[in-house]
Amino acid sequence: MRLKGKRIFITGAGGGIGRATAEKCAAEGARVICADLNENAAAASVEAIRSAGGEAIAITGDLTNETACATMFSQGAAAFGGLDVLFNNAGICLNDDAGPVETPLASWDATIAANLTSVFLCCKFALPHLLQSGNGVIINNASIVALVGSAFPQIAYTAAKGGVLAMTRELAIMYARRKLRAVAICPGPTATPLVKAFLADENAWKLRRRYLPMGRLGEPSEIANLVSFLASDEASFITGSAYTIDGGLTAAYVIDDSST
Ligand SMILES: NC(=O)c1ccc[n+]([C@@H]2O[C@H](COP(=O)([O-])OP(=O)(O)OC[C@H]3O[C@@H](n4cnc5c(N)ncnc54)[C@H](O)[C@@H]3O)[C@@H](O)[C@H]2O)c1
Repeated sequence: MRLKGKRIFITGAGGGIGRATAEKCAAEGARVICADLNENAAAASVEAIRSAGGEAIAITGDLTNETACATMFSQGAAAFGGLDVLFNNAGICLNDDAGPVETPLASWDATIAANLTSVFLCCKFALPHLLQSGNGVIINNASIVALVGSAFPQIAYTAAKGGVLAMTRELAIMYARRKLRAVAICPGPTATPLVKAFLADENAWKLRRRYLPMGRLGEPSEIANLVSFLASDEASFITGSAYTIDGGLTAAYVIDDSST
């Protein structure tokens, strides 16, 4: 059990990657705080963990709201007497987020708030607890769009994820001597309910599949495996870096898709 005794706060823990990670971390011995805007989704993650014999609590609220966020972290830290790991995972992806000409300012603002400002706020309120733990870790869920561009843009989402990556490096350097690590993960397309629904359209799937060297999406459990490693003491010399987990997508130049 690589996370025995760790207290992990997971944002967006009711969603695809969040739930898989919450379950994996609990199975590795962590006590998990499942935070989400969606009360039922957070409760379902807690239920899944408890029925497998793990320990978790649900906390509901909007992480883009400073007051709500502060309350969520004081509740979360009080539940298990502190915090050791923060997984900043909550995020949104809006349908009308496209190029700069088409994207409404309201969508830009909402996307930056949910994907970037929330990470800033969560760090603000988690850091005192993480520093007190003496072995704190922040793992930020960015995306491959923080590393490479797309001709089918989501400009606000991309800008937010780039910001998350830059913030991760700064956090790592600021706190390295205070025994706190900060790491980013950059997943490629992952089979969460939202993505599966979007790719249920034959054309949308065909267009994207040819860029996937493995010819498939990632599974939330595969992302969860990486997060549970980065959260553990096995990753004690890892800070300031970004972990691409994309089935080879960002390594590709030309893909042989003739066999499919
Ligand atoms: N699925 C992918 O292909 C993929 C790829 C790369 C990166 N990511 C990133 O992984 C993270 C999780 O993605 P997912 O696919 O599991 O999404 P998801 O929609 O299944 O889960 C996201 C969760 O975040 C919660 N949330 C959103 N805004 C919130 C807020 N303001 N306060 C509290 N909770 C909030 C939602 O309620 C939801 O449960 C996101 O940051 C996403 O950008 C996903």
